Amino acid sequence: MANANISFDDKQNVFHLSNRQISYLIQIEEGGLLSHLYFGKKITKYHGSRHYPRLDRGFSPNLAGEPHQTDRSYSKDTLLQEYGGYNTGDFRQAAIKIQGANGAQASDFRFQSFKIVNGKPHLDRLPQAYVLSEDEAKTLIINLVDSTLNAQVSLYYTIYNDRPVVARSTKITNLSQQSINIEKIASMQLDLPASDLEIISLPGAHVRERQMERQIVRQGVTEFSSHRGTSSHHMNPFVVLVTPNTTENEGEAVGVQLVYSGNHQFTIERDYVEQTRVLSGINEDGFDWQLNADDDFQTPEALLVYSDEGLNGMSQAYHHLLRERVARGKYQYAERPIVINNWEATYFDFNAEKIQEILDEASPLGIEMFVLDDGWFGKRDDDDSSLGDWFEYATKLQSGGGLVGLSDKVHEKGMKFGLWFEPEMISKNSDLYRQHPDYILGMPNRDLTPSRDQYVLDFSRPEVVDNIFQQVVNILDNVKIDYIKWDMNRHLTEVYSAALSPERQGEVGHRYMLGVYDLADRLTKRYPDILFEGCSGGGGRFDAGMLYFFPQSWTSDNTDPVERLKIQYGTTLSYPVSSMTAHVSASPNHQTGRQTSLAMRGDVATAGVFGYELNLAKLSLEEKSEIKDQVTFYKQHRSLIQYGNFYRIKSPFKNNETAWEFISEDKTEVLLFNYRVLSTAQPVFTVTKMSHLKSDGIYVDQRTDEHYSGDELMSIGLYNTPIKQADFTSAVRYFKWQAE
Ligand code: DGJ
Repeated sequence: MANANISFDDKQNVFHLSNRQISYLIQIEEGGLLSHLYFGKKITKYHGSRHYPRLDRGFSPNLAGEPHQTDRSYSKDTLLQEYGGYNTGDFRQAAIKIQGANGAQASDFRFQSFKIVNGKPHLDRLPQAYVLSEDEAKTLIINLVDSTLNAQVSLYYTIYNDRPVVARSTKITNLSQQSINIEKIASMQLDLPASDLEIISLPGAHVRERQMERQIVRQGVTEFSSHRGTSSHHMNPFVVLVTPNTTENEGEAVGVQLVYSGNHQFTIERDYVEQTRVLSGINEDGFDWQLNADDDFQTPEALLVYSDEGLNGMSQAYHHLLRERVARGKYQYAERPIVINNWEATYFDFNAEKIQEILDEASPLGIEMFVLDDGWFGKRDDDDSSLGDWFEYATKLQSGGGLVGLSDKVHEKGMKFGLWFEPEMISKNSDLYRQHPDYILGMPNRDLTPSRDQYVLDFSRPEVVDNIFQQVVNILDNVKIDYIKWDMNRHLTEVYSAALSPERQGEVGHRYMLGVYDLADRLTKRYPDILFEGCSGGGGRFDAGMLYFFPQSWTSDNTDPVERLKIQYGTTLSYPVSSMTAHVSASPNHQTGRQTSLAMRGDVATAGVFGYELNLAKLSLEEKSEIKDQVTFYKQHRSLIQYGNFYRIKSPFKNNETAWEFISEDKTEVLLFNYRVLSTAQPVFTVTKMSHLKSDGIYVDQRTDEHYSGDELMSIGLYNTPIKQADFTSAVRYFKWQAE
């Protein structure tokens, strides 16, 4: 039933967005300033409790223009606002910075009008959360105007039925006759009254993505951002504000997720009266957009979630939203195939015989898809050539009939066939570079910074995107392909486009992202039956923007199960398990050198979208039989793992132990995963308390036939026994519920 509601109280000048779970309150303040009142648990009716107190504070200036200039108790510098301007009396971080035609850098946007519409307006050329029907959400559009600039800012707020979510974005329209320059334009701002707050972010690195970090919000500015041209391994475009007592299952949490895959910026500022401002959007660093008369600019979208049921409550809202209203296409809810990928088995050194060997091993084990990774195109035998040459390396798979022959063989075995691409890149040693040296992203008279011996294509130019599109189409139209892994293995430097005028160079970074989205959009529409997996040297572009096009992403190049515990735990803070791919690889692990059991590797990888990435032909008969069991286990529980509700229980960031659980929507099926990293003498009998179960009825452990009530499992918990005296151990329990 439609329960999203947006009302305007013209006595209090207050907008109230609400549904059964949350409320968001905005007030038009004196002078047309838009003030933020509240975002949190649902309020039935607002009566003015958050009216901002007036106080004359030194060095916080007052409003310009009659009649306000005499009121010394009213200042933009302290008022909680929805969208703060620059250089006009609010000294905190601004949501928007504009340079007018005369060079003046200032902005001051005041209320002009509003509109409430059913559904959710589509954001042109950008990934976004969507609606399936007009009655599942309502959108408030508030128009603000800076009368000196003659520019309009439209703030979009969408509230869904039955989701604790507000989607926000901003559009600016230049109503004047002259060009203006947008130097910064945030997607959203959230100002919060003084209180103790902490912030959780997801920093990392290549092979160490999304490590959860929690810190106290202190006075000053803290920034979480990427300057690398992509959302990056180094700082995921996602933060959570929590109260000090917030845990996985208790306390308040407000998440901010930017639906964007390029340079992002989250600033958290605690001001001099301990109020907190949160801003999120495209990174202002290097950004400068020339907006001509009558043009507009649309920001990416930010998805805000409120939870009063701790971090798991917030994650649930994101998992459902991203899976149900951001991911799209045939595979949105489809069970994803179990993969064998040849990368760590062969790297570039493969031929038809070696691939055949892997295939012959894979199909009897029940593996469902073979993915041919990097090295099948141009003349690619190493990572220093051929990117941009998306035609088959004629001699490499020749004896097996080339790509077509390989695809046929894979399909004859009843498996699907997948192929690797890296569409955004160019090697200097490539036909593409020899023909079109200007296609490279780079500056005149400045040496280009190499990285992995490769360079970035200028995707801000439509003709470059068209060239790659055509090359990929030539492959996909001629070879039967069921899956594509879209990789991206370096970050952007010397960001400059030969096709844009000098005053437009600050647009290249964002135009590059629009080019990537355009190619992803065209390919996914033309080939709706192909499953796409995003990748950027592992999880370097694991964000909601890419998820709009690709329903899953390679989580990390690090497949060590111990390190994966942290990577996967951190990833699930915002992203659904259906988007998180996880493979069993060889031991010793290629990234860490650590030796772990096949059982532990399997128990970590089966908690994601599962596959293998090792040379099956080198395994013993016992190992193959264990793999067969893992595959059978995964097939039995695949739908619960990929589409059930996932809850974190014990964090690897704090403990030697990790635990998480998957619970079916009706709570009648539960999988509990426990992991222990290091063994100790005199082991401690630790307990795992489950959560989110039914309290009535009985949960039956399907292996041991032990019976437990749900509240028993939640309040008393289970001992983690039997204890194996070894490092890197794990155990999985499967419960079914029955009425007593
Ligand atoms: C980085 C990816 O994350 C790997 O899985 C592999 O595809 C390599 N690139 C290939 O170059």
